[in-house]
Formats: sequence, structure tokens, C-alpha cells
Amino acid sequence: MSTPQERTVAEAPSLQELQQRALAAASPKAHDAGAAIVCDRLVRIFSAEGVEVQALQGLELTIRQGDLVALVGASGSGKSTLLTILAGLDVPTAGTATVAGCDLLEMSVKERLRYRREVVGFIWQQTARNLLPFLTAAENIALPMQLRGRRSGAGGAKQQTARVAELMEALEIGGLAHRKPNELSGGQQQRVAIAVAMANNPPVLLADEPTGELDSETAGIIFESFRTVNRELGATVVIVTHDPMVAGEVRRTVAIRDGRTASEVLRRTVTDEHGEESVNEREYVMLDRSGRVQLPVKFLESLGMEHRVAVDLAADHIEVRPDDLAGH
Ligand SMILES: Nc1ncnc2c1ncn2[C@@H]1O[C@H](COP(=O)(O)OP(=O)(O)OP(=O)(O)O)[C@@H](O)[C@H]1O
Ligand SMILES: [Mg+2]
Repeated sequence: MSTPQERTVAEAPSLQELQQRALAAASPKAHDAGAAIVCDRLVRIFSAEGVEVQALQGLELTIRQGDLVALVGASGSGKSTLLTILAGLDVPTAGTATVAGCDLLEMSVKERLRYRREVVGFIWQQTARNLLPFLTAAENIALPMQLRGRRSGAGGAKQQTARVAELMEALEIGGLAHRKPNELSGGQQQRVAIAVAMANNPPVLLADEPTGELDSETAGIIFESFRTVNRELGATVVIVTHDPMVAGEVRRTVAIRDGRTASEVLRRTVTDEHGEESVNEREYVMLDRSGRVQLPVKFLESLGMEHRVAVDLAADHIEVRPDDLAGH
């Protein structure tokens, strides 16, 4: 068997070449075409009573147009902080974030308002927070279009009514048009909330724990509504969730740890030679622009790795081993 060094010399590209390739691949520029969301070294520091909390610590994330992505992570890992920045409700301390071509750090107050009305839809966990209590479901859905108010007059009103009906049909809430939120179940309220968020046909839909207050059966129905919005209305959808069922059903699940994207799971359906379909699942860790990776805790623990590891370059992979000189 050849040593790692021999293999490096004989067959592999140099470490420098590999590093350059990796950096090019991790550069957001390489992904920008077709990307709905690009975050680069995003930082958000909160100062509360003299204590600084680094909620986002150089987060990098690229989400392609038309994707349906679940965002998971422990409590306090920065999921809501990220989502409120992407929704235009909060501004990052440093880094860059672009959503549907809009630079979230450069927007004026007016642009930010337009961004929140037309570019992103947002759904909160608390069902009551998403709807105005004194308006019916149909009026709630029409409101964002009225606030946008580009086309007034009979033609505009007709278009709005048609759009409300179209959304209600797509989300299967057609019979609820005249009910007020307190006459709707939690699940029905969330489906109306999705229609409200999609009223102005934004390219991106964000939801923070949208099924957090619902039982699992209702959560399944809501999740199906997100799929509909993604598939039929063409929106890029990002859902923060603790629900393993939701996370298990999307093609891509991104995990956030300590304010950074740490790993992701990609799923694809494969068909074998007998025509049998199965879901192929693979976990990836993120490689940032400086070449840093965050290894899964369970891997590190199972091999007792900490502080320092030995890294060797092989022909087509990199080997990470426990530090054999520990204690020296
Ligand atoms: N307005 C704020 N002021 C001070 N600290 C904040 C503020 N908002 C969030 N934080 C802190 O930032 C960190 C990330 O919070 P965030 O709400 O993004 O977590 P999360 O991943 O959404 O958690 P959960 O799953 O519990 O909703 C936490 O340590 C939190 O205490
Ligand atoms: Mg949260």
C-alpha cells in the first residue's frame, strides 16, 4: 500500500490546487446564477444589557431558485435571526445577503418596504400573528395587494378578487372566504396565512416554525400547502422547523449550529433496475471560503477527536484522523 505522500505525488493534484478548487466551489459568485438567496459571512451581534450575543457568526448559505429547503438547528442556534434578516425585518451587523437580486444591506427605507411587500412572504409560528382579527380570510388575502396599490379602479379590483380566489383554491380554503380568524382552526389560519404571504406573488416564501403550534396531522396538511406553493406558484420556500417529519420530506435540509451553516442533508429519489423507487439520503458538511469545515459532533465523539486532528491528502479525498501525537 502506498503512503498518503506517495499517492499525492503519483496521482493527485497538489494540495494548493485542491484548495483553490475548493475555494472556487465555495465562492458565492460560482452559485449566483440561479440563486434565490445568497448569504456570505453574515454576522448579527445583539447587545443586551452590556452583553454581546453573536447570533450569526459568519453564516454562508446559497439557496437556488425554486428550491424547498428546511432549516434546522438547536434552540438559540440563530435560525430566527437569519429568517428575520432575510425577511427584511432586521439588518445584519456585517456580511452580505442577497435575496432575489436585492441587496439586504443597501436598501433604503422605501426599498425595504417594497421588498417586504413584493419580494418575500413571511409566516410566523403564532397563527394569530399572521392575520388581522377583524378581517375575513378573503379580506386578509386581498390586503397586501391593496397596500401595494399599483392598479386601482375596477380592473385592479377584479384582478385582486381573481387572485384571492386562485390562492384560496390552490390552498384548498375556498369555503372559508367569509370567516374571521377566530372562526378558523389553527391549521386553517396557517393556510390563509400562506395565501396572504403569496398574495403579491413574491419569489421567496419564508416561514419560521409554521407548524409549531399544530398537531402532526395538521402539520402534514400545512406542509403540503408549502409544497403546492413551491410547485404550482414557483416560489422558493425556506421553512425553519423542529419537526423531523417536515425536515425528512424536503430535498434539502440545512443545519445551523452556533450561528453558522454546519451541515446539510440532500435527498433524491433513485430508481433501481427493477423500477423500485427509494430515497437516497446523504449528509454533507459545509466548506467555507477559508477552507474550514465543521465536522459532525457524533463523528468526532465516536473517534475521540478533539483540539487537533491529522489531515492527509489522498487521490480523491482528504483523510482526517485522530491526533496520533496527542500529548506532545
Ligand atoms: N433581540 C435580541 N436581543 C438579544 N439577543 C437576541 C435577540 N434575538 C435573538 N437573540 C439571541 O441570539 C441567539 C439566536 O437566537 P434565535 O432566535 O435566532 O435562535 P433560534 O435558532 O431561532 O432558536 P429557537 O429554535 O429557540 O427559536 C440566541 O442566543 C438569542 O438569545
Ligand atoms: Mg426561533
